[in-house]
Amino acid sequence: MTLIPLRRLRPPPAAGPFSGPPLVDPQARAVKYLRVSLTDRCNFRCTYCMPEAGVEHVQRRELLTLEEVALVVRAFAAWGVERVRLTGGEPTVRQGLVELVAELSRIPVGSNPVENKPDRRLQVVMTTNGARLQELAAPLFSAGLAGLTVSIDSLDPIRFREITRRGELSQVLAGLEAATAAGFRDIKLNTVAVRGFNDDEVGPMATWAWARGHVPRFIELMPMSGGRLFVPGELLAAADLRRAVAAHVGAALVPDAGEGLRGLGPATYWRVDDSVHAGPHSSPHAGQRLGVIAAMTENFCASCNRLRISATGQLHNCLARDDTGDLRSVLRPYDPEALESRVRAILGHKRPGHEFRIDGQGGPDKAMISIGG
Ligand code: 5AD
Ligand code: SF4
Repeated sequence: MTLIPLRRLRPPPAAGPFSGPPLVDPQARAVKYLRVSLTDRCNFRCTYCMPEAGVEHVQRRELLTLEEVALVVRAFAAWGVERVRLTGGEPTVRQGLVELVAELSRIPVGSNPVENKPDRRLQVVMTTNGARLQELAAPLFSAGLAGLTVSIDSLDPIRFREITRRGELSQVLAGLEAATAAGFRDIKLNTVAVRGFNDDEVGPMATWAWARGHVPRFIELMPMSGGRLFVPGELLAAADLRRAVAAHVGAALVPDAGEGLRGLGPATYWRVDDSVHAGPHSSPHAGQRLGVIAAMTENFCASCNRLRISATGQLHNCLARDDTGDLRSVLRPYDPEALESRVRAILGHKRPGHEFRIDGQGGPDKAMISIGG
């Protein structure tokens, strides 16, 4: 593989002032985590994420440039954001991704430059479908990417093709191997659990992930796109899912309180029982962990610490709502004071939680592809 030398992004204009206090929403939840969508395009067409045809993509000039992304992320880091997740669409289809990761990984956290210790750098992570990891894993790791989440909904190549419409399972598996070889550890595997599609695979997928040092995570299907892609009977509730995994491994799943039940993200973590109560016949998987993202049946909005920026620079307070505010107009041309007041004004409208209903109503009109989860 030939590595192309890294071009640095154009240096930012004088940043700041960024002197304001940390970002806190009306429910007193601090914003620590920013998800940034780099594109609304994807090389897959997952059935629950986008319709097969007729998706209108935004024009290139409407996308934030990578320099604009770096500017806005720098501001959020100054206000206390500790982790940025790059999403899409599919983030690896965006040109310049590696350069962007290198740039973002250098950003200090916090607003006082004296207090900014080298170890207080922004944590840059990414969620990807894995299709391009064979070429990109090593350069991304070298650029400072701190964590990787790979979506994978089935280990059966035919099913995988069916749900992604375009994906090649072998390519994603090779991508995962490349990522491990590049140095990524604790890669998270995101599986959207769909009753009648992959519910028989949740146990085998968990053990498959553990055998490779990955962290399996299961996501409840959410009714995005006005519920148009959501089939109520397909929702596999987290409690049922945990029961299925427990039955497969022959041991109970217990809350993984030791690690903190909840990380920076929305997942709760569970562990195959490894306590003395598990007894002499404890599972060979004892102590292994899995994550559950259960927006539908185990609401986690009370601990929401996130904001999202779309590829066009719209700030979204919530995945599940359509109200947004525009940041691009204060980045183009860049007006740091206007950016700060705009962000705080939008955050002032963040509501307590979502209104997803298990009948598929109550969600946003926007499609997942437009915001990246
Ligand atoms: N419900 C639940 N998860 C979804 N994802 C995409 N669309 C949906 C949906 N409707 C998942 C992707 C990816 C993560 C960012 O969100 O598979 O893993
Ligand atoms: Fe692409 Fe991810 Fe949407 Fe699938 S879920 S179509 S991989 S953006």
